[in-house]
Amino acid sequence: MIIGVPREVKDHETRVGMVPSGVTALVEAGHEVIVQTRAGTGSSIFDEEYMEAGARIVSTPNEVWAQADIVVKVKEPQPSEYMHFRKGLILFTYLHLAPLPDLTQALIDTGVTAIAYETIRERDNSLPLLTPMSEVAGRMSVQVGAQYLEAPNGGRGILLGGIPGVAPANVVILGGGIVGHNAAKIALGLGAHVTIIDRSMPRLRELDDIYNGQVVTLASNVHTIREALKLADLVIGAVLIPGASAPKLVRREWVTTMKRGAVMVDVAIDQGGCFETSHATTHTDPIYYVDGVLHYCVSNMPAAVPHTSTLGLTNATTPYVLELANKGFKAACAGSPALREGVNVHAGEVVYAAVAESQGRAWKELAAVL
Ligand SMILES: NC(=O)c1ccc[n+]([C@@H]2O[C@H](COP(=O)([O-])OP(=O)(O)OC[C@H]3O[C@@H](n4cnc5c(N)ncnc54)[C@H](O)[C@@H]3O)[C@@H](O)[C@H]2O)c1
Repeated sequence: MIIGVPREVKDHETRVGMVPSGVTALVEAGHEVIVQTRAGTGSSIFDEEYMEAGARIVSTPNEVWAQADIVVKVKEPQPSEYMHFRKGLILFTYLHLAPLPDLTQALIDTGVTAIAYETIRERDNSLPLLTPMSEVAGRMSVQVGAQYLEAPNGGRGILLGGIPGVAPANVVILGGGIVGHNAAKIALGLGAHVTIIDRSMPRLRELDDIYNGQVVTLASNVHTIREALKLADLVIGAVLIPGASAPKLVRREWVTTMKRGAVMVDVAIDQGGCFETSHATTHTDPIYYVDGVLHYCVSNMPAAVPHTSTLGLTNATTPYVLELANKGFKAACAGSPALREGVNVHAGEVVYAAVAESQGRAWKELAAVL
């Protein structure tokens, strides 16, 4: 197989879909790897390293997309990339299709096989290709929140950990999964007062055991969330219903009741966001205000720390790329329930129920179109 790695084109996206160790593994397994020049530069991985690993460097995205059997990327294709779609191409990347009907339509119309990192699910119910980026975004969300709470950056001028004699900031985390847990770790480490709200009681019990009473855990409902927001200095949105649009847990009118200069970081923005007031922002223009409350809604947060993120991501993706390349799409899917769960669009049909339902589209079982 020929595996292609284009340079990412999304704003400030400096991660890359494959590192030299992945290239070596594929080349040793008998495949060819084409990497667009400077694809890894943003992650401090250079063309020479890819060449030493056995990759062929090409100068344009067109050469990568046109020759590859499998294109391995990081972010969902941008409109400027849709022209590369063609029948038979396997696209392996984050897709987050639920809020992106135009991209979904382009994949359907062109007959691309689109496998979404974020819906690959292992037998233990874990989402192994979401986990490392959720770890990064969760840890970053508190760093970002702490930074924007500083007055020169537009926040209410509160130090997360307080000082002796002065109360710390109240950090409210909606969703206690991977993002929420990692956010809590960092917020606690900085000395903040931390509340985690989740709808899963088993998860709240687990978090209570892990933190041994250092965090407040609350069951998710309208009342709990509305009251917690009134006291919050930093709110982190970290809920997920896999493959579906995020539930809007924070209503527009509640933002009016919050402290001026409080900060809301909606990490779940890549699934449409979990605050009614959220809209996606970029690393170039990351924040805006609603009723004096600062919103940070960058949908590709890990791009700010590309070296860490690229290594974390490719540690997780490379085994699946190898499986796809070695066995081919059909056999790889037959042998791996996890990979099958990742397929969102195949042969002109949406084959992932939650994506179709979010967009009001019809869908088919993958088995029916294989
Ligand atoms: N913006 C970014 O750059 C970025 C990076 C990584 C991950 N993410 C996103 O962050 C979100 C969270 O990811 P994760 O890995 O932590 O997911 P996860 O599945 O580990 O955790 C999600 C949690 O949300 C909880 N939840 C679901 N519905 C809820 C509700 N109504 N009320 C309260 N809790 C609820 C679940 O019980 C679960 O504990 C996802 O949307 C993911 O795509 C964004």
